[in-house]
Amino acid sequence: MEEKDTSLATGCESPTADASNEAAQSAQTPNAGGEVGKKRSSFTGKIGFVLAAAGSAVGLGNIWRFPYLAAKYGGGIFILTYIILAVTFGFVLMIAEIAIGRKTGASAINAFKKLHKKWAFLGILCAVIPIIILPYYSVIGGWVGKYFFTYLTGSGAAAAGDTFFSSFIASPWQSLLFFALFVTVVFVIVLFGVEKGVEKTSKFLMPALVLLTIGVTIYTLTMPNSLEGVKYYLLPDFKKFSIGTVLGALGQLFYSMSLAMGIMITYGSYMKKENKIESSVHQIEVFDTGIALLAGLMIVPAAFVFSDGSPETLGQGPGLMFVALPKVFQTFGPVGGGILGALFFALVLFAALTSAISLMETVISIVIDKFRLSRRKACLITYIGTLLLGIPSALGFGAFKKVSIGGMTILDMMDFLSNSVLMPIAAFLTCVFIGYVIQCKTITDEIELNGKFAMKKFFNVMVKYVCPIGIAAILLTSILDVAGVFKL
Ligand code: PHE
Repeated sequence: MEEKDTSLATGCESPTADASNEAAQSAQTPNAGGEVGKKRSSFTGKIGFVLAAAGSAVGLGNIWRFPYLAAKYGGGIFILTYIILAVTFGFVLMIAEIAIGRKTGASAINAFKKLHKKWAFLGILCAVIPIIILPYYSVIGGWVGKYFFTYLTGSGAAAAGDTFFSSFIASPWQSLLFFALFVTVVFVIVLFGVEKGVEKTSKFLMPALVLLTIGVTIYTLTMPNSLEGVKYYLLPDFKKFSIGTVLGALGQLFYSMSLAMGIMITYGSYMKKENKIESSVHQIEVFDTGIALLAGLMIVPAAFVFSDGSPETLGQGPGLMFVALPKVFQTFGPVGGGILGALFFALVLFAALTSAISLMETVISIVIDKFRLSRRKACLITYIGTLLLGIPSALGFGAFKKVSIGGMTILDMMDFLSNSVLMPIAAFLTCVFIGYVIQCKTITDEIELNGKFAMKKFFNVMVKYVCPIGIAAILLTSILDVAGVFKL
């Protein structure tokens, strides 16, 4: 824990309940690059840790991505697959990553190297993933910003129009502008180290988002045809099951819980030895999955109310939230709908910001670790790099529309590459590394530092056998499926 600090962790301010705790005095937001000095500071109390990790986990993945995947991959069957994977693979990986982080006191890029020299490459693989995600995550953040701005300026009715979304994303300047604005806001927050303020605010705004989502869901459920949507969303139809459902759910799990990309390792490195890893993981998982399920319950039935749940609407992918919700807001009239829309997109924007901050901090810590730069320089390089790398995704619906593989836009490709290819590979290798290289005991001992590890046997079997074999099988079947050799 005394080594040079080179990594992120946003939002580890002390919860008021812990203010008297002597550790509260030392707890501060540890920025990338060791601004907090040589000593690695830590989260104050378990609540501080859980809230910070949840701040990273809850974001566009829950509100934007989960609902459109659930709609696309058959509704209830996707939900069932997701929940099964969350309590098995998700639980095991999150436990493992946090324990690796706490044991080594290092961010991913150094943690694997510290545990085994030959496995340093896994840290590098984990590092590549957030570098791919941050740019396209910011493109979606820009879309949310555009909708917020549209409602704020009183044009909410236009946002409910059928072609509003498609013409916005097709317009090169608009999508570039909002993407650049989003990245710039994240950059400024990170550069001036004001994450703490953002995280403090998000402690109020996150519950507000949950309440608003519950309110909109209840309202939508009173509208005609919405129950058809609820049925589609909650009742599994096994005929709709495909390998795509499993791969989609697996990638979503990693994405939503910020797994298989080193982020939880870094968060773990700031966790105190006396805090319990196992129960923290249960809390983060319940929180993250609960918000995703709720967001889906709001958006999928809305698609049934306004378009009869047509296959084109359900299968449309990234646009679903942006197309379905404005139509719900519009039923409140110009003033009510305008306020509701502005409020909703402001809250989503905030959730997106907290996640993007944690992504950018990760990338900065990688740049510092690899190139031994000052934090300021690393911030600048990350900012410019993110802007450049995001341009193709931002233009992929307009100027670069022709660049597509199997109907996937550039943004879809980035998303697929990170979530459905690289993350499963990183997760597979992490399991092999723990189960067969450093051995499960190294991890379970860390978890048992402060009490019993209730699910230890389950963890061991999962890490050694079920997870690696399962992930390898899912990946292989998907490759064969895509290649057309074998259809499931
Ligand atoms: N988990 C975040 C979300 O669901 C995305 C994210 C991924 C954030 C990786 C940080 C790191 O929106």
